[in-house]
Amino acid sequence: MTTPVKKVPIHLQSSQNRLLIKNGTIVNEDETTDEDIYIEDGIIKQMGTNLIIPGGTRVIDARGRYILPGGIDPHTHFDFEFMGTKTADSFYSGTKAAVAGGTTMIIDFVFPKKGESLLDAFYEYRQKADGKVCCDYSLHVVLPHWSTQIKRDMEILTKEHGINSFKMFMAYDFMLNDAELYSAFEQCQNLGAVAQVHAENGSIIAKNAERLVAQGIVGPEGHELSRPEEVEAEAVNRACVIAKQVNCPLYVVHVMSKSATRALDFHRMCGARVYGETLVAALGTDGTNYKHECFHHSAGHVLSPPLRSDPSTPMALMNYLAQDVLQLTGSDNCTFNKSQKEMGRDDFRKIPNGVNGVEDRMSVIWEKGVNTGILTPCRFVAVTSTNAAKIFNLYPRKGCIAVGSDADIVIWNGNATRTISAQTHRQAVDFNIFEGMTCHGVAEYVIVNGRVCLDDGQLRVVEGYGRFVETPVFPPYVYNPQELDSIKPIREHINDVDLAPKLNKIKLIDDPCPTPTFPDSYVSTPTMRGMRPEGQRNIQESTFSLTEELDPERKSSIRVRNPPGGKSSKFW
Ligand code: URP
Ligand code: ZN
Ligand code: ZN
Repeated sequence: MTTPVKKVPIHLQSSQNRLLIKNGTIVNEDETTDEDIYIEDGIIKQMGTNLIIPGGTRVIDARGRYILPGGIDPHTHFDFEFMGTKTADSFYSGTKAAVAGGTTMIIDFVFPKKGESLLDAFYEYRQKADGKVCCDYSLHVVLPHWSTQIKRDMEILTKEHGINSFKMFMAYDFMLNDAELYSAFEQCQNLGAVAQVHAENGSIIAKNAERLVAQGIVGPEGHELSRPEEVEAEAVNRACVIAKQVNCPLYVVHVMSKSATRALDFHRMCGARVYGETLVAALGTDGTNYKHECFHHSAGHVLSPPLRSDPSTPMALMNYLAQDVLQLTGSDNCTFNKSQKEMGRDDFRKIPNGVNGVEDRMSVIWEKGVNTGILTPCRFVAVTSTNAAKIFNLYPRKGCIAVGSDADIVIWNGNATRTISAQTHRQAVDFNIFEGMTCHGVAEYVIVNGRVCLDDGQLRVVEGYGRFVETPVFPPYVYNPQELDSIKPIREHINDVDLAPKLNKIKLIDDPCPTPTFPDSYVSTPTMRGMRPEGQRNIQESTFSLTEELDPERKSSIRVRNPPGGKSSKFW
């Protein structure tokens, strides 16, 4: 008996389709402009007004909307086996949710299992992800210990597999000691890779946790008590000092506290090339949740480093982002269901570490950053997309709206609201740390490589549509900032004023958390552009949507576009 082919009706736009986005306000990291965008074959082909475009092109009217570069989430964990269990979100559900929230690219972590080589772990992750991702992705690689074999594999990964970043842990039982960090940073520097560090003092945490458990403090509140801010700040400082010895640029992942940010800023002020990523979790909620009487609620917020119980932390971190003390935001999406968090019911050390954020990152940061006046729309773009593209050497292919860039675009309604809930989110996990939060700022259309994957709020992703994007070594932003000036995106039709804030860099060691002031215009709504003059012919007015049947054959043809080993991302 033959299995009937299940035809799934879907509004499918292949990357061959043509798309015109008109009447919107384009926001790049450095300026806003009122221009139309013409897309063909997944690439932005033209920008400007009164563009000449072929008939039959689909037109999206973005009047009154912002047009943003798709979000890049530089920190996710999908299909990840960790602390004796596996994340609730896979590369499919995770990237589907990402797209729904306005993120068009994620960077996940290859996490070798005990005894597994970096290369085998890399191949395994490519296999897990390639057929499932709904948007483009790249990979960082975790160094679970230090050895000459690891050193060799790092070279192969950078030279043959498009890897340009490695993460080292200073906590957990796979942490590296100072001498090992020294060698690993040295190798990153030799290869032109980005050294990333999980900065917490693992030895102090283990001792603190032991003491707390002996005192009978076994609930989730013990998680933060065992990992206080200074334990994070000490590790940030130590990592910066070690990196300095070998002249290696350093990227500190998930900076969660004011103290840790100050430690990082101290080294920046001294001239070190250090970069700080904070999390939407740290910007949108806080550690007071660990005192919640419901275990599922408090354990649902457990991640490392933890959320901080100082309630001024989220706004302080947002201000640090505004001032470029911190450069970018990730989600560290690493989700576990309530039943999985139960593993630590009697001992907080066994609660699987991790929270959600990949779907809600853009909305929560808009709400807490732009809607409060702390971030301009331009800075929002920088910290949710452009800076990740620059640091991981994807810019200007990704992270900006420019001629020649990938058509990864979000049409964003800054006035619309949505209330976050685990009942309605697209992620697979059954808990949401932002439950009940109403956010202004909603993605209405999300275009991934030229394909409309969120169409007027309707999610139309395709499993396996995303591609692995190689990340070349020696990112100019990190290794040679002067060179970045010569890698300018092509913007030919600039016709609007630059609304980017003139950020007054303030020495944070003197003044830990100044609030920047911006004129009201920085949070103004997009221009409602006038109608085309009477009598002028509009050759772009045809609205056309292509509806196709998505059958398995079609799906596999999408997959074949992503051969193992990946395609080169060499672009400019
Ligand atoms: O708690 C966290 N952050 N879980 C994911 C693993 C990591 O350290 O990034
Ligand atoms: Zn980490
Ligand atoms: Zn992580």
